[in-house]
Amino acid sequence: MLTQAPKGTKDILPSEIHKWQYIEKEIAKLCHDFGYKEIRIPVFEHTELFQRGVGDTTDIVQKEMYTFLDKGQRSITLRPEGTAGVVRSYIENGMASHPQPVKLYYNITAYRYENVQKGRYREFHQFGVEAFGAAGPSIDVEIISMLRLFFDRLGINQVSLNINSIGCPVCRAEYNKKLKDYLSPNLDKLCETCNTRFERNPLRIIDCKEEACKKITAGAPALIENLCGECHSHFEGLKAGLENLGIDYTVDKNIVRGLDYYTKTVFEFVSSNIGAQGTVCGGGRYDGLIEACGGKPTPGIGFAIGLERLLMVMENQGITFPEPKGLDIFIATIGEKADRYAEKMVYQLRKEGLSAQKDLIGKSVKAQMKYADKLGAKYSIVLGDDEIDSGKAVLKNMETGDQKEISLDTLICRLKM
Ligand code: HAM
Repeated sequence: MLTQAPKGTKDILPSEIHKWQYIEKEIAKLCHDFGYKEIRIPVFEHTELFQRGVGDTTDIVQKEMYTFLDKGQRSITLRPEGTAGVVRSYIENGMASHPQPVKLYYNITAYRYENVQKGRYREFHQFGVEAFGAAGPSIDVEIISMLRLFFDRLGINQVSLNINSIGCPVCRAEYNKKLKDYLSPNLDKLCETCNTRFERNPLRIIDCKEEACKKITAGAPALIENLCGECHSHFEGLKAGLENLGIDYTVDKNIVRGLDYYTKTVFEFVSSNIGAQGTVCGGGRYDGLIEACGGKPTPGIGFAIGLERLLMVMENQGITFPEPKGLDIFIATIGEKADRYAEKMVYQLRKEGLSAQKDLIGKSVKAQMKYADKLGAKYSIVLGDDEIDSGKAVLKNMETGDQKEISLDTLICRLKM
């Protein structure tokens, strides 16, 4: 146990960190281009926020939250997602008085006690955005176009967009009645979970992955065909906007999403090359959430991409990640005098913005050069008493093997060339 990370968690090792840093850089660029500012929210919140925000009837709240009493006997929960926390912050920090829409993004870890499998972890990373204060479909179109562009910029060509509308409380209430009428003769054939969903959240039954439930729901009325006038025209506006931008989509009437806050537009980007957990990104509109969390009625919309799944898609597609910049120079030393000299030299080089390293543990020259090679140093020099006395040393290009005697005074200039 002592030397094993908890189930469902993973270290991101130095050997793979460049992939994450590359994606994070692309995220920051994308968000800048679309006018989203970064927000950093706490890892934990009051449990009530998720119960109210994500929804009491969801799997997340019922089964998956990491909830505990803190030393002050408050019920605290590790964030299972980012939307609720961002909404809380929007209300708490008076962002309703900022020019609307307020556009925010975040890169977070999230925590869900899930059955661990490929693409499904207990600690995972999300890049998400939330936009507040825009009611019409224009922002839905913008947010989806942002995702399409992001995938394009990363070179991903194997994710497809599915959209749906799950209406507003008015048309959903009407629809729920119809759905319950349709389902009630078959209640005994539905799984246990769906039976519990029947009264409180029948729409989620449409999303059940159990074969028996799928058979029954296959012929169920679809919410998309039962929208009220306003929700219908919102969805038409979204489709027209996507077509205007040439963004391909499929209407999937079975997308209901696993969180309770959604209204109207819901969407997913799905990949077929990463196995069963193929949903790379999920999102949608949540026009009632801010009010449900104690704010003024404010429309909202957002999405979150699971970064582990995004990386899997990229790796499976064979996308190469830019290698991080290597070490500029390694200074190998022989003897104490050279070591002192090199200490000053690497400090000077670093002050000039160059990356430089020297031996720190008394390795032999041969071992130092091997180490320099491992570090991917572009250049190396070996310093001994002679080099220090003469002020000259041999600069070796580690890639080509070329060697040139140089004056130590000119080293910085040469490396900067
Ligand atoms: P979600 O669909 O629960 O939505 O999660 C979004 C994405 O996070 C998923 O598509 C998936 O890529 C990733 N994800 C979720 N659970 C796991 C897990 N256990 N392991 C690995 N990856 C996972 C939300 O979280 C909403 N807050 C999205 C949103 C933002 N809607 C509006 N604004």
